[in-house]
Amino acid sequence: MSGSRKLFIKSYGCQMNVYDSYRMADTMAHDGYVETHRPEDADLIVLNTCNIRERAVEKVYSELGRIREMKSAAKQEGRNVLVAVAGCVAQAEGVEIMRRAPVVDLVIGPQNIHRLPDLASRVKRGKAIIDTEFPVEDKFNYLVAPTRTKTRTRGITAFVTVQEGCDKFCTFCVVPYTRGSEVSRPAMKIVEEVDRLTQAGVTEVTLIGQNVNAYHGTGPDGGAWTLARLFERLSKIPEIVRLRYTTSHPRDMSEDLINAHRDLPKLMPFLHLPIQSGSDRVLREMNRRHSRREYLEIISHLRAARPDIAISSDFIVGFPGETDKDFEDTLNLIREIEFASTYSFKYSARPGTGAAELDSQISESVKNERLACLQALTEKQRHAFNESMHGRTLDVLFEKPGRLPGQITGRSPYLQPVQVIAPSHLIGKVMPVRIVNIGSNGLFGEIAITANNSKFCAFATGVA
Ligand code: 5AD
Ligand code: SF4
Repeated sequence: MSGSRKLFIKSYGCQMNVYDSYRMADTMAHDGYVETHRPEDADLIVLNTCNIRERAVEKVYSELGRIREMKSAAKQEGRNVLVAVAGCVAQAEGVEIMRRAPVVDLVIGPQNIHRLPDLASRVKRGKAIIDTEFPVEDKFNYLVAPTRTKTRTRGITAFVTVQEGCDKFCTFCVVPYTRGSEVSRPAMKIVEEVDRLTQAGVTEVTLIGQNVNAYHGTGPDGGAWTLARLFERLSKIPEIVRLRYTTSHPRDMSEDLINAHRDLPKLMPFLHLPIQSGSDRVLREMNRRHSRREYLEIISHLRAARPDIAISSDFIVGFPGETDKDFEDTLNLIREIEFASTYSFKYSARPGTGAAELDSQISESVKNERLACLQALTEKQRHAFNESMHGRTLDVLFEKPGRLPGQITGRSPYLQPVQVIAPSHLIGKVMPVRIVNIGSNGLFGEIAITANNSKFCAFATGVA
């Protein structure tokens, strides 16, 4: 048996969870745990869960069924495996998880993951623990503390949490209950973290938060900084070549953030701005606190500020009471805006949220029909957007080796994956790439020979 203990973490759901999983891996590393990709080898298995939709919860329970078998197989070999459920299902279900899945030793909410090492060692001494209390101390203390977590690099691109939680209470959504009220990290803590990330080779940073554009962290002058102000500061870090952010709410799409898309070349021309529905009546029922017209106005201001900006959104079909006319309004909004990409979901009633109690729930068959219809339209738009890149030269930041030997892969400014046959020393660099082919999930290109280069080549080959 090897000396170190092994940790397996599976992450479900949003980027926030992926980031939390990194943090858990890092804190456990200080207790001698090394990560493994094979759950059957692990001494500690953590499922970092999402409960935004019912299906996500059911996936966790079926995974726990498989883990129960692994745990009993390990027991026969004399190995005791600890099983922890973290994330939003942990927060929402608490003790119910242990009732439905007795294989679980530890249930830990997203606010408390900094306590994982301590809780895991207590559990090892034989006691099941549930820790889903919201901490009384400042929620961001654990992120602000000088942990080594922040400098861990994940290659060329990194996600940095700047804001957590939500006060909006959309009537379909569990986030305000599982992630708590909205808080922002102090601006200079974020700047220091990004500085450290650049030392580890990071050149692109995505700022993340459930309501990232509601960011209002304390600045060095003691006043609150907006997200735009933070981007302006981060833009000054020479090693950072690209900045992104997700996920935003239309209510917080302030003028200075729209202008930042005009003024900051490092801020990439891609925005994920969920609207959920194109019907004013449904938007009201959802408690979105913005109208269809307001959303359209934001998009037109954004396009005026940055004409090539690509817009992406989330949609929910079959929200309680949604009529054919409401759904038609959503389709029309999609036709009007033309999205580069979208995520769409059937409404799923989440216990404890406002809409779950409504009588006017929509049948599964209508939801299926509407989802298929909406996705046919959004897929067409996504293809059209990708096709519009054909023959164009795009800046691509190369991130890693590609799928095939000799290939490297990166992202366009609009977040499209781009595959190119090129030497691996270009990984980490931004290069102009001419798009020569459009695949179903990305683009294919070749390194563009710039005007200067082609002149050089012409002279070199004596063709001119
Ligand atoms: N049912 C269906 N989709 C939901 N989302 C959030 N809650 C629900 C729900 N109860 C979707 C929204 C959100 C995305 C992350 O998940 O579209 O923007
Ligand atoms: Fe959920 Fe609405 Fe908050 Fe987004 S804004 S996290 S959908 S409550």
